[in-house]
Amino acid sequence: MKYQPPRLPIEESLTRGEEFFTHMNSRRSVRTFSSDPVPKECIELAIRTANTAPSGAHQQPWFFCATNDPALKHRIREAAEIEERENYEGGRLPPAWRNAIAHLGTNSNKEYLDIVPWIVVCFAQKSHELDDGTTQKNYYVNESVGLACGMFIASLHTMGLSTLTHTPNPMGFLSEIFERPATERPFILFPVGYPAKDCTVPDLERKELDQILKIY
Ligand SMILES: Cc1cc2nc3c(=O)[nH]c(=O)nc-3n(C[C@H](O)[C@H](O)[C@H](O)COP(=O)(O)O)c2cc1C
Repeated sequence: MKYQPPRLPIEESLTRGEEFFTHMNSRRSVRTFSSDPVPKECIELAIRTANTAPSGAHQQPWFFCATNDPALKHRIREAAEIEERENYEGGRLPPAWRNAIAHLGTNSNKEYLDIVPWIVVCFAQKSHELDDGTTQKNYYVNESVGLACGMFIASLHTMGLSTLTHTPNPMGFLSEIFERPATERPFILFPVGYPAKDCTVPDLERKELDQILKIY
């Protein structure tokens, strides 16, 4: 199949790239959400966008479960808080890890999982079933699913929505709640909505270009 995307004049490439950078640079992870509703179509669009990601052998080893059901969100909050209490207060997180996240001011209270209009969980598929019923391993699962999640986040941000890349590990409870098969593992839990009116975020700086790029 022929593929010939339009070749832009270099000035236009740079303008578009700069605009996209400014837009992406304004994205922040949110931990205080409004309960304002978000239409299902926005969630579907973000997941359709995630599904455009490149993947090892084009196996697209991702599956998304989304819910706006208050009872289900509450079950997720309760299960996540059990794990997070063990992480934060029960000593399961090693001291070095605790130190690394201390500046974010996070704790085991995950009230936002009740408040936020949507919870979307991305599952990573370790294998898939072939037509003859046998199982085929998927390749580069973490890389592929990570890319899809990045595109999901970018799509939400483009729609003016916010999310948090949330990993209340171990996340086996999400497989149970969403009744997913053993061939999948929970990858990232995304609360999706609008920031609350009083939302604040940690004052973080991003690395400078010369810290992350060396041109040879
Ligand atoms: C793989 C991954 C796991 C993360 N897990 C959590 C988490 O469990 N809880 C949380 O509050 N933030 C979590 N974060 C969010 C990071 O703390 C956040 O992205 C980082 O502080 C940078 O802030 P920013 O997203 O606003 O740029 C996670 C981020 C990534 C990429």
